[in-house]
Amino acid sequence: MGSRRILVSDIDGTLVGDDGALGRFAAWWAAHHDGHRLVYATGRQLPSVERLVATSDLPEPDAVISAVGTEIHDRHGRSWSGWTDRLADWDADAIRETLRIHSWLRPQEDEAQTPAKVSYDVPRLGADDLARVEGTLEASGFDSIVVYSQDLHLDILPAAAGKGNAAQFVAAGWGVAADDILAFGDSGNDIDLFRRGFHGTIVANAMPELASAVGPDVYRSPLAFADGVLDGIRHWSGARVPSA
Ligand code: GLC
Ligand code: MG
Repeated sequence: MGSRRILVSDIDGTLVGDDGALGRFAAWWAAHHDGHRLVYATGRQLPSVERLVATSDLPEPDAVISAVGTEIHDRHGRSWSGWTDRLADWDADAIRETLRIHSWLRPQEDEAQTPAKVSYDVPRLGADDLARVEGTLEASGFDSIVVYSQDLHLDILPAAAGKGNAAQFVAAGWGVAADDILAFGDSGNDIDLFRRGFHGTIVANAMPELASAVGPDVYRSPLAFADGVLDGIRHWSGARVPSA
């Protein structure tokens, strides 16, 4: 690995979830972040990430991938150049209209809906129902991906979006290769981060939907939350990081 590395991490259930572990991560970051850039990749929207950074030990990031990989902002909160254009042809309203035939899809609150993200809550979505949604989307003609997280959240996104695509876009902007990227996650919307040739770590508290989707190339930390992130950094880079 080179000298300029990117840590791409999910927030909820990964860096956040155990305050003590987050404190250990924050202390390590404060002392050792030279040579690393930190990118959050989250289902949250940017203002919610900013609030969390302001009120917790979560360090200031160098970029934020938000709304499940449909939005990217730089460290100053500016929209990441060129990203939104790639998603502009997708028609979220047409997707919403098309999917109305599945009356069991419960739309999330209005704030969760954007021009590049159509979100529902469906507890314990089965494979058959997932296939029905995918079939309807194929017929709509809009190139989409379906992301299911926490056994509840169903996000429909443009095929060019998602945490993995967004992380690659950020890395390309900085001229950093996949081999210099470490990725961390705990649930279904992180799967995309583990299919890009990055060095992946899943934390011990990861949801089965993620644990069963990733291969042997991904490190499964025996430690939970931010302790698992520190352990993953240690595993992949031999960096001196504190033990839990
Ligand atoms: C966050 C978002 C929600 C999304 C979920 C899973 O909770 O607010 O819209 O469905 O992450 O990606
Ligand atoms: Mg998570």
